[in-house]
Amino acid sequence: MSITPRFLDELRSRVNLSEVIGQRVKVTRAGREYKACCPFHHEKTPSFTINDDKQFYHCFGCGAHGDVIKFVMEHDNIGFMDALEILAAQAGLQVPKPSPQEAQKAKKEKDLYELLEDATEYFQKHLLEPKNQDALRYLIERGISRETIAEFRIGFSPDDGQALRSYLIERGYKDADMIKAGILKKSTKGGPPYAFFRDRVMFPVPDRRGRIVAFGGRVLPDHLRPPRRSDFTPPKYINSSETPLFHKGRMLYGEPTARRAAAEGQPIILVEGYLDVISCAQAGIRGALAPMGTSVTEDQILSMWAMIPDFTKVPYLCFDGDNAGAKAARRICDRVLPLLEPGRSVNFIFMPDGEDPDSLIKGQGAAGFQKAMAQSVPLFDFLWNSYTQGRNLKTPELKAGVKAQLEDEVAKIAHKDVQSYYKSQLSRKISDFFFSRSDFGNGNRGGSWKNKPQAGRSGMIPVKPRSPYAQVKTLFPKVLLAGVINHPHIFDDIEEILTGMVFANMRHEMLKQLLIGIIADDPDIEGDKLVEKIQNSGFTQEIRDICSESVYVHASFCSPAAAKESVQSKWLEYYSDGNAVGLEEEIHNGWMRAYLDSSEEDEERLRALLSMKVSDNDG
Ligand code: UTP
Ligand code: MN
Repeated sequence: MSITPRFLDELRSRVNLSEVIGQRVKVTRAGREYKACCPFHHEKTPSFTINDDKQFYHCFGCGAHGDVIKFVMEHDNIGFMDALEILAAQAGLQVPKPSPQEAQKAKKEKDLYELLEDATEYFQKHLLEPKNQDALRYLIERGISRETIAEFRIGFSPDDGQALRSYLIERGYKDADMIKAGILKKSTKGGPPYAFFRDRVMFPVPDRRGRIVAFGGRVLPDHLRPPRRSDFTPPKYINSSETPLFHKGRMLYGEPTARRAAAEGQPIILVEGYLDVISCAQAGIRGALAPMGTSVTEDQILSMWAMIPDFTKVPYLCFDGDNAGAKAARRICDRVLPLLEPGRSVNFIFMPDGEDPDSLIKGQGAAGFQKAMAQSVPLFDFLWNSYTQGRNLKTPELKAGVKAQLEDEVAKIAHKDVQSYYKSQLSRKISDFFFSRSDFGNGNRGGSWKNKPQAGRSGMIPVKPRSPYAQVKTLFPKVLLAGVINHPHIFDDIEEILTGMVFANMRHEMLKQLLIGIIADDPDIEGDKLVEKIQNSGFTQEIRDICSESVYVHASFCSPAAAKESVQSKWLEYYSDGNAVGLEEEIHNGWMRAYLDSSEEDEERLRALLSMKVSDNDG
């Protein structure tokens, strides 16, 4: 018996089309039909309709059209027979044995997978052979455990152009298929085809269902394989070329592991390479994925979003902490902005100097990586930082220039609603930043204030003069922070106070925690280096606000120019004075709000105390 039209009809009528589709994408009822956002093209409003009575789906956007079998084949990216198996299992039917022709066709489909599976086993076996112990030693040197080697099916391809070929020929495979699968290369010199991967550690690349579809092969390091030629260095990694089963730009290394992790609520994290994925997974960070030697594509971004089962889909993208990393992140912004939708975004993680996820985990364990994650920067903030950070924005022209650039970025967002939220956040940020008090010089002692109009700039943003009391209240946390940031050497002596303090302003609190983390990591860090690190973690604006002449002018000890030796005692003094008048307590309890309702007498008292302090520090 073979697969008859009757069987297919039976199958179609036993499963419910909208239910099968609903298991894969979000489906909503629309009258007699169902609607969904088409899984076969990118869209924001649903034009994909499902008709259970007629047993077909149709997309008015891209024209995708078919029945339940076609849907499963295309959506799950699997063959006809596999789709039948899945649906039959759901319908409680047995798939009949296929006819010889059908079997032939299905076999061709399966052949390449089987071939790659056999090649994977071959590589795995060779990794464990005594004569290839260098390869195993290398993996162990890199801290990869036996279990991880087994889980990721890491192997080794011997330095023999024909060994894999003869092994597979013996198992009935044809040269043509081995070439098609990307493991053999045609000889240009008229010889037999030969192994594409030779003398390399092999990383098999599974598709989302775990079937091996490609390989990445890494050379052994120089100390195990001294260079043979001085004029040629082989590439560190080579990857399978495109094959019928492998489309580099659509796949990500680590997919089955990451999918499972995402389903269990772990974050999806895009890292750079094979070993980053593997080290992350070994450390329990199992949502890691990597592109394979290419820059990240739209398909890969969509695929990461698709892996996250929640409505809110915000994968993390990891980059080096240097300029190249920032550039790569900028390139990804260009890809992501047009794709943004409600609930969908990305977060950027920047690695500490010179580290990648693999080395970070090796040095500091999963906690080190999680710390970097905790300092991740949302897409909006990253865009903002990348245009404002380290730039001179003092003149109206320069401000207008940055504003125009940021608006161009926002204009790349295709989704109307998301775009309008970006727009309003951008204009808020611009008014906070460009027209903030610090722009005028913070307060009336610095002098600059008086020389400028007190209210409104071209009638746009009214700026209220502040009472000296209110001014000192906001100064207090800034002075304390500036003191530590500019003089991290005092940290040891004030650590207890600083860690015990909870800043009422969330951003200050976050900055404080970041600061403590960085100094704990690198106790000898210098002030300017520290400032840079904090800025790179998305606190440009706060740094501008805190490490500013308008703060220093009130408490010279916290400025970078202050004499090193005196900072610590002055910091403590400033802290305890502020503490005496309740400022520390205010920071703890959000006392400010309470104070606003308090008597003028109280305010007088505090003002007297603090103005005394201010003149002290001026001297
Ligand atoms: P890197 O070369 O940046 O990684 O390649 P790395 O951390 O120094 O390498 P390891 O940890 O010692 O192995 C990162 C990724 O870029 C691709 C690979 O996917 C690699 O995992 N790559 C790199 C290539 O495709 N070809 C290359 O020649 C190098
Ligand atoms: Mn690495």
